[in-house]
Formats: sequence, C-alpha cells, structure tokens
Amino acid sequence: KGRTALIAGNWKMNLDHLQAVAFVQKLHWALKDVKHDFDSVDVTVFPPFTDLRSVQTLLDADKIPFGLGAQDLSVHDSGAYTGEVSGAFLKKLDVSSVIIGHSERREYHAEGDDVVAAKVQAALRNGLVPVICVGETSEDLEKFGASAVPVGQLEKALEGVPAGAEIVVAYEPVWAIGSGQAATPEQAQEVCQKLRGVVIDKLGEAVGATTRVLYGGSVKSSNIASFLREPDVDGALVGGASLKVDEFASIIRYQK
Ligand code: G3H
Repeated sequence: KGRTALIAGNWKMNLDHLQAVAFVQKLHWALKDVKHDFDSVDVTVFPPFTDLRSVQTLLDADKIPFGLGAQDLSVHDSGAYTGEVSGAFLKKLDVSSVIIGHSERREYHAEGDDVVAAKVQAALRNGLVPVICVGETSEDLEKFGASAVPVGQLEKALEGVPAGAEIVVAYEPVWAIGSGQAATPEQAQEVCQKLRGVVIDKLGEAVGATTRVLYGGSVKSSNIASFLREPDVDGALVGGASLKVDEFASIIRYQK
C-alpha cells in the first residue's frame, strides 16, 4: 500500500493524568521487550485534555516514539468561550492530531456536519492533522446500506479543505463501537475504499493515495491483522482495547 499503518488509541474519558503516565510507560516497556520496529507502524494516543501535558512531558523526556493526539478542539482559536480548548493551545503541547466528528460527539453533544467541518478547518489552521470520524448507525445501515451516510459525512467535512491538506479518515460504524461486534474486514474495505474515493475527488489523486483510512469499532488483537490486510484499511482507531497495556501492545505488534 505504501502507507505506514497507524494505530490510534482513543482513551475517551478514561485514565487520569497519573494513570496515563503509568500506562504510557508500561506500554513503551511492553513494546521494547520485543524490539518493536517503529518504522512499520505509527502509534498515537489520544488522552483526555487534562492528561496531555503530563503525557507530552513523558514522551519527550523518555524519547518515546508515540504521537500525541487530542479528542476534540474548539472551532475558535481564542476568546470568550468558557470551557473550550483551542487548536493553538494543543499545538503548543506538541499535539499532532485531533479526533473530529466521533459518533459520541455527534450523538451526545449534537455536533452536526457543520460543526465537524468548522473543527476540521480549526485543526488545519493550527497545523493539526484532523482524524475525521464517519460512520453509520444500525438504522442508517438498514435504510441506506453501509456507505451512503459515511460518504456524505466525509464530503461535508472536507468542504473548503484545500487540496493537498493532510488528513486521516476513520470509518467507525456506530453499531460496532464498544459492542464487541466488529464489521467484517470485507465490509470495512468496501466503505474505506469509497471514503478514499471521496478524498481523491475533493483533495486530489496524490492526497488520496497517501491519506490513511482507519477502521474503528471493536478492534482487538485477534482481529487487527484481518483489517490491515485489506488494501484500503491503513490502521485502526481503537477504543476499549487501547486501555489494556498487553492487548494494545499486541494490536500494535500485529502481524500481517
Ligand atoms: O474511537 C474509538 C472507537 O469509538 C472504537 O471504540 O474499540 O471500544 O469499539 P471500541
């Protein structure tokens, strides 16, 4: 495929800053033991905001080759927006990427496609790679099939994004998140291929060829390899399994 795999751990609202530091240290050790080759896979962790400074300090001090991501950002860069965190602040903490459009934000915080698109712009404006999440609910699946909703969501998220921008796309069927019921690799491939088609249409052939399209939804060590074998699946956005050191280390060490 020519694209380095990306294993992204979305911790959601789990692990406080003390637990986060202990977790990253243990994960690093678990991977060191087997002399993991970090050239073949990128690892990024997405802790809660309150953990970012502590995790950044640890990654820096111990030269741990994990990327640092955030789970959300404001559409604004600064100002009177109580409770919000700006992309500019994240950038100063060496955060490299930010999850946008996760189904939990869409559902519990009423974030629609307009907000998602504005957050994508805010991320790019601040030099952050947006990890744009799209996916259908089980009702969508019944009514429209698997790809219509995620394709529409991605088209809207990419409106106004300049050709050549670096993005990551994550296909997360809502019915597969935290359910233990992952999509099949074939289902994931079918939608990820269509999502890559959207990236090509909107941002050009070259960006489409280098953009990483991830699958997310009940990924674990026993199914990761089957997803990564698919030609248009370039990694995984992992929730629950990214909170267990041994399990997450096994996912990172997946064998094709
Ligand atoms: O962002 C991650 C996804 O929501 C997947 O969560 O691996 O617990 O199913 P899960």
